[in-house]
Amino acid sequence: MERQTFSEVLQKWYQRNKRDLPWRNTHDPYKIWLSEVILQQTRVAQGLPYYQKFVEKYPTVTDLANADEKDVLRLWQGLGYYSRARNMHQTARIIAQDLNGRFPQNYAGLVKLKGIGPYTAAAIASFAFNEKVAVVDGNVYRVLARIFGIETDIASHEAKKVFGELANELISDTEPATHNQAIMEFGATYCTPASPGCMFCVFHYECEANATGKQAVLPVKSKKIKTKKRYFDYFVIERKQQFLMAKRGAKDIWEGLYDFYLVESKENLLTLEEITDDFLLAILPVGLIKSVSEVYKHILTHQTIEVKFWHIVLNDDTELPLPANYDFHSWQEVEDLPKPILIEKYLKKHLGEFR
Ligand code: ADE
Repeated sequence: MERQTFSEVLQKWYQRNKRDLPWRNTHDPYKIWLSEVILQQTRVAQGLPYYQKFVEKYPTVTDLANADEKDVLRLWQGLGYYSRARNMHQTARIIAQDLNGRFPQNYAGLVKLKGIGPYTAAAIASFAFNEKVAVVDGNVYRVLARIFGIETDIASHEAKKVFGELANELISDTEPATHNQAIMEFGATYCTPASPGCMFCVFHYECEANATGKQAVLPVKSKKIKTKKRYFDYFVIERKQQFLMAKRGAKDIWEGLYDFYLVESKENLLTLEEITDDFLLAILPVGLIKSVSEVYKHILTHQTIEVKFWHIVLNDDTELPLPANYDFHSWQEVEDLPKPILIEKYLKKHLGEFR
């Protein structure tokens, strides 16, 4: 297929089928950045309300820069990969403070910023500044692998080069922004992983995967590394309607979010008899175990976590040395702090016990 034909057919498809999304009606690099970071986490339908909340609360990069990290994480709550939100916030500070609130105006400048990788830099450079640089993400891998019959493993290092070069050959000289939006939209809504609409596809006759029946095997992706199993027993310790929580540290999931007193085990969730933690052994005799929750399963890319919550109520006059970093928080604070979504779910379900 001629390079120009590919882009023309694609753009024509896009003009007829595109969704009207708020970040498509702007050239503001901040809003485009925000939308793309959110959309790396989730589908458009789930991402849209987050985008709207962020734009409303932080309409400019300077507003985001001036925010408290805690509030940014709270607004991000539920999207996962919280390091992305923290990086975005830190980068907003750099743009606001060092660059006078002005984004670098091209790919090369954008990609130097922390948390802005090749995909996001290409998206901002093309959508905001119409720079001719191709976006390459999972959608693009899938579309190109199928249409051009490319069997390179998309998890390999080589894939970046193979697909990146092809994508940059194919991109329109005159309409790079529309071309990029079009290939993303085509991958996201039409050439989908499980049920591409090959029968009526605009590339029906050109597509290698359609000709050879390889839709299900393309793109090729090698097996994921094995997932690790983890077991979290959370102790929701209440005293005088206040709840013990701490901010999670670096080097593990949920950095910067707040959680309850946590005991992690290697093999299984704990029974009462298996508790050996000193702090818990000190408080259990003076506390009431008000409830032990059902088991929650939380599946992340490389780990599966089973979680159970113990709600323990202490007498009002219980005085204890608190474990390092832990503090008691009012119910209002518990609601306002950024938390793993799993904790939010538990609290919602057990609201009657707390208020
Ligand atoms: N997913 C991520 N970015 C997208 C975009 N710009 N259009 C459609 N789907 C997307």
